[in-house]
Amino acid sequence: MTQDLQIEIISTDKISPELDKQIDQLDHLAFADEKHDDPEFNSIDWSSHIEYMALGRVDNELVTLLGLLKREILVGKKPVWVAGVGGVATHPSWQKRGFSSTLLNVAEKFMREEMKVPFGLLVCADERRSFYGRAGWKLIADKLFFIQNGERRSLKTSVMILPLSTEVWPSGEIDLRGLPW
Ligand SMILES: CC(C)(COP(=O)(O)OP(=O)(O)OC[C@H]1O[C@@H](n2cnc3c(N)ncnc32)[C@H](O)[C@@H]1OP(=O)(O)O)[C@@H](O)C(=O)NCCC(=O)NCCS
Repeated sequence: MTQDLQIEIISTDKISPELDKQIDQLDHLAFADEKHDDPEFNSIDWSSHIEYMALGRVDNELVTLLGLLKREILVGKKPVWVAGVGGVATHPSWQKRGFSSTLLNVAEKFMREEMKVPFGLLVCADERRSFYGRAGWKLIADKLFFIQNGERRSLKTSVMILPLSTEVWPSGEIDLRGLPW
């Protein structure tokens, strides 16, 4: 039942300290049991330059969220603008009701119409591919490159894109040119 879900997309500079606390609490609960195959994973700094948060509430309680940022990355030799989607999470007590899928749908419209980028891009664990696949995301790589403290590093992960225009994804390795999200 998703009809009770109230969704807003808010610029992160408008987030109050109280809301920030609620977001942190939900993140900690949702990601508490997260495990990673890549041993490098725990040494990665994730980008803190999130520009927007998509938030879903039921009766004023924050139950689902995701973060969005805009970045020009490199694919092969071609610069490509993407909307990065990260921190996708639903409170454990509210999972499997379609809330995150609904939020992803609303975020898709926002990425296309407000962020005006040709693609969304996210990384996820292999077992989440089908979840994002049902929301229109396509697997395009099992590895990407990023920069942390001036060092170019690689991450083995499922890399998925969401086509938002008729633009075709170029071939070549993916370089986020900064921290991952
Ligand atoms: C991944 C996550 C965000 C999904 O949130 P969610 O709100 O439960 O997502 P949805 O309800 O839209 O879909 C989840 C599943 O429930 C199913 N579902 C949706 N509505 C349902 C319903 N009414 N009854 C039963 N199942 C339902 C979906 O088909 C989906 O199945 P799948 O996992 O096999 O793909 C959530 O599990 C979570 O926070 N996980 C921990 C953090 C994490 O791993 N985030 C992803 C980082 S990439």
